[in-house]
Amino acid sequence: MTDLYARDEKAIGTLQKLRFFPLAATGGEGSRLIERNGRRLIDLSATWGAASLGYGHPAVAKAVSAAVASPAGASILSASNEPAVALAERLLQSFPAKGDQKVWFGHSGSDANETVFRAVTKATGRKGIIAFAGAYHGCTTGSMAVSGHSVQADAQKADGLILLPYPDPYRPYQGDPSGDAVLALLKERLQNTSEPVAAAFIEPIQSDGGLIVPPEGFLRKFAEICREHQILIVCDEVKVGLGRTGKLHCFEHEGFVPDILTLGKGLGGGLPLSAVIAPASILDCASAFAMQTLHGNPVCCSAGLAVLDTIEGESLADAAERKGERLREGFRQLAARHPLIGDVRGRGLACGVELVSDRETRTPAKRETAKLVYRAYELGVVLYYVGMNSNVLELTPPLTISEAEIDDALAVLDQAFEDVEQARVDEGVLGRFAGW
Ligand SMILES: Cc1ncc(COP(=O)(O)O)c(C=O)c1O
Repeated sequence: MTDLYARDEKAIGTLQKLRFFPLAATGGEGSRLIERNGRRLIDLSATWGAASLGYGHPAVAKAVSAAVASPAGASILSASNEPAVALAERLLQSFPAKGDQKVWFGHSGSDANETVFRAVTKATGRKGIIAFAGAYHGCTTGSMAVSGHSVQADAQKADGLILLPYPDPYRPYQGDPSGDAVLALLKERLQNTSEPVAAAFIEPIQSDGGLIVPPEGFLRKFAEICREHQILIVCDEVKVGLGRTGKLHCFEHEGFVPDILTLGKGLGGGLPLSAVIAPASILDCASAFAMQTLHGNPVCCSAGLAVLDTIEGESLADAAERKGERLREGFRQLAARHPLIGDVRGRGLACGVELVSDRETRTPAKRETAKLVYRAYELGVVLYYVGMNSNVLELTPPLTISEAEIDDALAVLDQAFEDVEQARVDEGVLGRFAGW
């Protein structure tokens, strides 16, 4: 453990920590995080997807330096500013449904989803919300109220929250990999609820719940049923949006357009920035209702514009599709040697690898997963795990990662798997790293 990590342990509280190993970064470049001793780790997480263009991308550095040198104020609350308006226009242009949509800006996925929850219930007068078990929409009171992740089991939920099982082809609800059993349950719950439902929150790939890709056609059918009941569809693309899955918006894979889209993480390229695209009837339903002083900050919005320009200019969505397939193919090859690998899935550069102690019974290999990410860190690769059973490796590297870096990371992971399988990783190392 480095001195920096020891100081962190002393000075910063654990409430906001989700630690898997003692990583202490002093710099970053491209897809690498750099430690004080000069060690350059390949980051397959991109800080949970936030560093969409990697670390220190020249386009972001240039845009942020210019904006911070002559900032157009600090907020959108009580004055307009060019970067925020330009970014809003840009986001609206990217949204396929052309109506009276507007944009709201925040700092995080949590505040974006919380704002949507509060605004849809206010605007429609309906209190009910549909969401999925395993869904992670944030860590503020309102975003936790509409989430279904086990890590937030103690959080207060919204009145009238209907939680449905997420259609998981690897662990199917009622043994039905098509997802139709979930749709039948949705219809039944809608028939029996006394509380009219305002909105349904969906993740087009359920990320923190286990990087689960729903079965083909499920989300389109789900949206149709919701529409029959005038329920707004809220698509949370905070983690998987903006080029990561091979298309600018992940819902484009699914043949439906949501009413409301939430974006965050990668939008700011590492700076705090989130956005909601929604009908004016929702985002104009009140004033001074969902605002924080630095919302619409011109420096963050300038970073957002640079991120969108770079994704488009460098065709990073197409590249994500190609690189993601290379990453998944690499894991499929590892699966031939490592029985711990139960399932490899994903879209573009949003990949999940589920670890099991027995492929027949699909028993989650929770301890082994924790050891694997710890060992990978020791060997020079950063990745974390997700899932309701804490057994899914999540891979959301920078969209700019090179194919050579993907291959190098896979070689390291090959060794890490072997070390875990050969019981070369001591249980004791996990003591201080509970993960989640
Ligand atoms: C799908 C999704 N929505 C919302 C959030 C919350 O975003 P943030 O942590 O930026 O508040 C996350 C974070 O992991 C997420 O994965």
